Amino acid sequence: MKLDVAGVGKDYLIPVLDTVSFRVATGEFVCLLGPNGCGKTTLLRIIGGLEPATRGVVLLDGTPVVAGDAHDRKVGVVFQEDRLLPWLSLEANVALVLRPLGLASAARRAVARRYLALAGLAGFEDYYPGRVSGGMRQRAAIARALAIEADVLLMDEPFGALDAQNRRIMQTEVRRIWKETGRTILFVTHAIEEAVALGTMLVLMSARPSRVRELIRNDARVERAKLIDDLNTMIMEEVLRQQGGAPLG
Ligand SMILES: Nc1ncnc2c1ncn2[C@@H]1O[C@H](COP(=O)(O)OP(=O)(O)O)[C@@H](O)[C@H]1O
Ligand SMILES: [Mg+2]
Repeated sequence: MKLDVAGVGKDYLIPVLDTVSFRVATGEFVCLLGPNGCGKTTLLRIIGGLEPATRGVVLLDGTPVVAGDAHDRKVGVVFQEDRLLPWLSLEANVALVLRPLGLASAARRAVARRYLALAGLAGFEDYYPGRVSGGMRQRAAIARALAIEADVLLMDEPFGALDAQNRRIMQTEVRRIWKETGRTILFVTHAIEEAVALGTMLVLMSARPSRVRELIRNDARVERAKLIDDLNTMIMEEVLRQQGGAPLG
């Protein structure tokens, strides 16, 4: 599914997103970087139809996203916190989001088990969230987002709460799932190495009110160490700009 973010802006009490524009081809893995508070979560919520834009439009395969279309199947979301219901098993948590799709209960369970297995949780279907590790809960949250078979997966700093080791494991897993499912992924992170390890395309946002500062294609020809260096410099400049400090250099 193609994604077109066309001149999207958002004002709260202050303008947060000025005009943000970029295009994403089907199957792309986009990593969104930018200083804290520049509006990454806001942008993801607008793309996911959880929040209206003040200006501009988001198109999914040419169709505008309408905020509040709750049962729209086109977009799945994974947040930093897993948002699982503690009184339901992992399987029941995933099966729950399939209810609006009109599947019978046995079919919902089958789909839930399939996606839990894909997320590396075969054998843990009957566990409750409180009984598994943070990494496993985050896997279940990913399985839940995949299970609705959305074409676009939005992930907002999904591994922010994980320790370094689990984080690396989950990066590998998400990359594998992306390859196996061919979904388009939009992944917010403030970890530059993570973005460079995962993304096929990097979107660097500026300080608030934000625009796209750089769009970087991250293919095999890119020299990773230099890219990480450059990104570090650019993000530091935007962080300082946002704090009202003088830009570097
Ligand atoms: N519902 C809201 N009402 C008012 N201000 C908000 C709301 N949501 C976010 N903001 C403000 O918008 C700015 C961007 O927030 P956010 O999108 O969470 O940034 P990021 O995810 O890049 O850290 C922040 O200054 C935040 O305080
Ligand atoms: Mg955020």
